[in-house]
Amino acid sequence: MEKFVITGGNKLNGEVSISGAKNAAVAIIPAVVLSDGICRIENVPNIADVSIMASILEAMGANIKRINKSTLEIDPRGIKNPVASYELVRHMRASYYLLGALLGKFNSAEVAMPGGCDFGVRPIDLHLKGFEALGADYSITNGGMICVKTDKLVGNHVYMDVVSVGATMNIMLAAVKAEGKTVIENAAKEPHIVDLANFLNSMGADVRGAGTDVIKISGVKALNGSTYSIIPDQIEAGTYMAAAAATGGDVLIKNVITKHLESITAKLREMGVEVEEYDDAVRVKRTGELNHCNIITMPHPGFPTDMQPQMAAVLIKAKGTSIVRESVWDNRFRYVDELRRMGAKISVNDKTAVIEGVSELNASPLKSTDLRAGAAMIIAALTANGTSYIEDIKYIERGYEDVVEKFRNIGADIKRIKTNEPGSQSATA
Ligand code: EPZ
Repeated sequence: MEKFVITGGNKLNGEVSISGAKNAAVAIIPAVVLSDGICRIENVPNIADVSIMASILEAMGANIKRINKSTLEIDPRGIKNPVASYELVRHMRASYYLLGALLGKFNSAEVAMPGGCDFGVRPIDLHLKGFEALGADYSITNGGMICVKTDKLVGNHVYMDVVSVGATMNIMLAAVKAEGKTVIENAAKEPHIVDLANFLNSMGADVRGAGTDVIKISGVKALNGSTYSIIPDQIEAGTYMAAAAATGGDVLIKNVITKHLESITAKLREMGVEVEEYDDAVRVKRTGELNHCNIITMPHPGFPTDMQPQMAAVLIKAKGTSIVRESVWDNRFRYVDELRRMGAKISVNDKTAVIEGVSELNASPLKSTDLRAGAAMIIAALTANGTSYIEDIKYIERGYEDVVEKFRNIGADIKRIKTNEPGSQSATA
């Protein structure tokens, strides 16, 4: 088993460069299936979720060349059978994008029920409702395979009962080659939705309005190969911003789109943190005390739910009492028990956490209950007295490229160790 070993107390200083957006990459890579040619995807993050998605496509017959650390060349023409292997699919929630992409290309798709981070119920009813609206029927086999098929996809008007990133993306994927026009009402507006739409349009699709709550898609006959560069990761950037604020450091976070960070910047400024915005970078600096603040997570452009654990890890040492309300997911406070072990004062009732800032945190053995909770553990450990050990780092490495190297380069005392049994000290990096 591998763990992160972090000794707290260092202020983070220096520069960190942000990688491509995980939640854009895991939708754009399956979207290549819709193309009749080769696609070159640049600024792809080198993370486990991308490797799993690439392996699923290769297992189905695609040919994928890694041109360099962040560039993939994908030829989907070898895919003939629209069935995605259970073994690989079950590890990752985003594998559900294969349903929309395969349905859009082959009028048929068979993909195992998705796996992924566990923080409450994560249904896909809106995805399936969208496919039905386009004329497809679906069934779920006893083995947990979702089968969707149709003789012909026909554009339609789809109203999303709940703002859903995944369902919005999946319906876009199924609709780009459907006959006629599709309108998605109450669509999600996250940056990665816009990125997928831009990629689809680079292949010759006709998607308009992405980034607003009404997306209009006119079906086209064919999509061609293209070259496309993925946007920087809003949440990776926000995570380093939060870490710089928590440790009282001074960090330049490069290769970002500052507009995507507006809600995070606003909250950090409320807490007394200096955030300077440049063309494609933000500088985060804190010299004084952290003030408390209240956060409600909302769909974009509201405060992102994927930054909720990381900001809680900052607020646990802020002066005063903060209230954090999670309005997107049912149960995204499982990480709180880990922070309590360090001395944090947090009470959770239903979907609201009340955080009473403390002046000291103590190092502790910590678990990563999911990807962003793991990032929160890193931030808390960086500001604690002593040395913490973080388990289940596979979750963290699913979504953060070179996380140990990036944090070490800005002064964090962090290393990855291999352990034969819990608590062993052998360090490897
Ligand atoms: C995406 O998940 C992200 N994952 C999540 O990020 C993120 O937390 C979430 O969007 C919200 O921004 C990827 O992009 C791979 P949703 P997704 O559909 O698409 C309900 C991370 O840390 N819902 O927007 O699964 C659902 O229960 C991950 O990178 C339905 O009811 O989220 C939730 O309450 C964690 N029926 C709400 O909508 C459906 O069919 C939002 O979910 C679908 C969703």
